[in-house]
Amino acid sequence: MNERTTALVTGANKGIGYEIAAGLGALGWTVGVGARDAQRRDAAVEKLRADGVDAFGVPLDVTDDAGVAAAARLIEEHAGRLDVLVNNAGVTGGPPQEPTRVQPATVLVAVETNVIGVIRVTNAMLPLCKKP
Ligand SMILES: NC(=O)c1ccc[n+]([C@@H]2O[C@H](COP(=O)([O-])OP(=O)(O)OC[C@H]3O[C@@H](n4cnc5c(N)ncnc54)[C@H](OP(=O)(O)O)[C@@H]3O)[C@@H](O)[C@H]2O)c1
Repeated sequence: MNERTTALVTGANKGIGYEIAAGLGALGWTVGVGARDAQRRDAAVEKLRADGVDAFGVPLDVTDDAGVAAAARLIEEHAGRLDVLVNNAGVTGGPPQEPTRVQPATVLVAVETNVIGVIRVTNAMLPLCKKP
């Protein structure tokens, strides 16, 4: 059994997600760096490792059913289970939008990412969180 605490942070390649990954890593936790872009993901993992964090990359676009399922399988293979899920990935939809002028496509991306994405990732990871 893996005795280390393992966390997954979505959207961990930059911003608040990266800082959360660094903070959890500083506690001695193993951190899955969830990110959709391979180059940005690799760069973040490399930087975290250089700072002593036990980080591993997790290809993860929260809007992609198959990709999220594959991410869960990868975490299970790497760590056996998941202790903490940080649903950080999100989009703002750009500058503040006038409700009377906003493009439906902009709202759709925000809902798909910020709402459905959280449900999708949580549902995929929960079985790993329930493992002993
Ligand atoms: N900053 C604030 O003041 C503030 C305030 C309230 C709430 N928040 C929320 O806190 C979270 C982080 O904010 P932030 O300021 O750090 O934002 P950020 O710098 O824009 O970072 C957002 C992260 O989410 C990732 N992401 C976006 N869509 C994704 C998708 N479909 N699949 C996977 N990853 C995706 C981005 O990846 P890419 O690099 O590939 O785009 C990036 O890593 C967001 O959910 C944001 O809405 C932020």
